[in-house]
Amino acid sequence: MMFSNKTVVITGASSGIGKSTSFEFAKRGANLILVSRNEEKLNELENSLKKFNVKTMVCVCDVSNKLEVEKMAKLVLEKFSHVDILVNNAGFAIFDYVKNLTIEQIEDQMNTNYFGMIYCIKNFLPSMINKNSGHIVNVASVAASFGLPGIAPYCASKYAMLGFSEGLKHELSSTHVDVTVVSPIMVRTNFFNHSSFRKIKKSSFSLSPETVAKTIVKASTSRRLEIIVPSFVRIAIWIKHTIPYLINPILGKSFRNKINSE
Ligand SMILES: NC(=O)c1ccc[n+]([C@@H]2O[C@H](COP(=O)([O-])OP(=O)(O)OC[C@H]3O[C@@H](n4cnc5c(N)ncnc54)[C@H](OP(=O)(O)O)[C@@H]3O)[C@@H](O)[C@H]2O)c1
Repeated sequence: MMFSNKTVVITGASSGIGKSTSFEFAKRGANLILVSRNEEKLNELENSLKKFNVKTMVCVCDVSNKLEVEKMAKLVLEKFSHVDILVNNAGFAIFDYVKNLTIEQIEDQMNTNYFGMIYCIKNFLPSMINKNSGHIVNVASVAASFGLPGIAPYCASKYAMLGFSEGLKHELSSTHVDVTVVSPIMVRTNFFNHSSFRKIKKSSFSLSPETVAKTIVKASTSRRLEIIVPSFVRIAIWIKHTIPYLINPILGKSFRNKINSE
């Protein structure tokens, strides 16, 4: 098996895309470090992964907390000595207009989605560089290419993830450590259980977390910077960058219509 004896850290493993990704890697024989804040859910997941006969480690950690990430990484590296794949997937959004959000709500999204990724990379990258091997997969979103009403701070955190990943990939180009971003459209997960999402109409087109998980596994051996899921959305991104003055008003209107009340 291609991933047999590989060690994979997955943040946000307790739910949705992270949970499905844990199953996809376990099926392929990888050892897993399951990271999130919810110990009960991680223990349940660890139990259901037993059938795959892979090594697992549960790490209760808030990725937005620098010290907790440092401690978590130290424990992981003591137990496994090296991490082959780091999947930075933990993230969330609060749906509302900027005028209604508190500064703390905006900071929280940046701290988890962007700085959570930075803290994990800063703690695991040195051992990858030392071994001259490893792959970092950052789960962003198509919101890394479109600034959308109602999720502006979330979009900012995902744009930041993409920009950081691109720069880091260049820096690592002479090594065997690589970075790939996975950017899905809407995925059917607990992401939308946040009370703020009551305000939007559900989209009729969405992906299963399993589809995204399979892409994350592929991304962990890919040379590409960004994999958009589904791939045809890349055309929309190209059109947006080429004729933004035509596309942005249409996009803005369609997303504003999704908000039932302001
Ligand atoms: N669903 C979508 O439509 C969609 C689309 C594009 C991209 N994404 C991205 O995909 C990623 C996974 O989201 P999902 O859809 O699978 O949502 P989800 O089901 O709500 O899962 C989010 C995961 O992130 C973890 N998490 C949140 N804050 C954390 C923190 N501070 N520290 C550690 N773990 C934290 C949660 O675990 P705990 O609560 O146990 O800590 C949970 O495991 C996110 O980065 C999201 O931005 C989602």
